[in-house]
Amino acid sequence: MLVVGSLSDLTDDVRHLRLVDPGGAALPAYAPGSHVVLECGVGPDGLPRRNAYSLTGSGVEPDSYALSVRRDDTGRGGSRWIHALSLGDSVEVSRPRSAFAPVSTARHHVLVAGGIGVTPILSHARAAVRWGRSFEVHYVFRGGDGPHLDDLINLCGNSLQTYRGSSELWSTLAPALLDRPLGTHLYTCGPAPLIDEVHDRARAAGWPPQRIHHEHFGIAALEPGTAFTVRLRSTGADVEVPSGTSLLDALEQHGVAVPNLCRQGVCGECRVPVAAGAVAHRDLYLTEDEKAAGDCVMPCVSRAEGPRLELEL
Ligand code: FES
Repeated sequence: MLVVGSLSDLTDDVRHLRLVDPGGAALPAYAPGSHVVLECGVGPDGLPRRNAYSLTGSGVEPDSYALSVRRDDTGRGGSRWIHALSLGDSVEVSRPRSAFAPVSTARHHVLVAGGIGVTPILSHARAAVRWGRSFEVHYVFRGGDGPHLDDLINLCGNSLQTYRGSSELWSTLAPALLDRPLGTHLYTCGPAPLIDEVHDRARAAGWPPQRIHHEHFGIAALEPGTAFTVRLRSTGADVEVPSGTSLLDALEQHGVAVPNLCRQGVCGECRVPVAAGAVAHRDLYLTEDEKAAGDCVMPCVSRAEGPRLELEL
């Protein structure tokens, strides 16, 4: 449990928080680009509402976990809960997890941020400056100043390029993708269309997939999906998963404990091995190769492709 040590508004709808140990202790270090999962009150189903947020610090000897949250009035309520926090309030926070760390052997790092997707990119930039790594930041945002723009200007100097829209971004980034040195890695965080376009253009420019990295904010509202039955291989028990109920919820209601954090298909914590049946993958965590292999499922968001699925549980 951490407490809110400071609060500030970066823009009309983005709030920056520093979460500190109530006794003033140092916090565990983390890799740049890591996220934590916050318990943001209780959802309409009575279960804790958990959201994953990227940390904005470098991760070295942190005395606080800093994060910036855009209020989403149409979301599930987690961001509104965070925006209602006051100084000294307690917040349940997971240990940092990394799924978007910089590659230490990279010759150069191209960092692309869209809007509030700047948060893990700022963490990467802080670490790059600290360790003297070669990097550049491309930051696209609309209206006013983007969140953390001042931080990036102070940190990056001439290594920062800013844009007011995608046509401005691509007039600079498209040629950059063609001439960066071999061994450069590319990292993007922002809205899904930006991530997809950076990925597609980089692949078209000859970048191997191993050098293209991205971090999603979280999954958008999902379709309720059709009902299916899941069999637990250890007991042979069948669990019905109705439309509108997640596989994870159905397992928990059946007394099957599955470790989980974000419940948004982002953190990777709930991964379960699949024994038989096809999976309709809807998470943002597994790679395309892992999804194609079909031997695991993230039950917080993904479902069966057909009427039945068998799990190694
Ligand atoms: S709980 Fe995070 S991916 Fe399922």
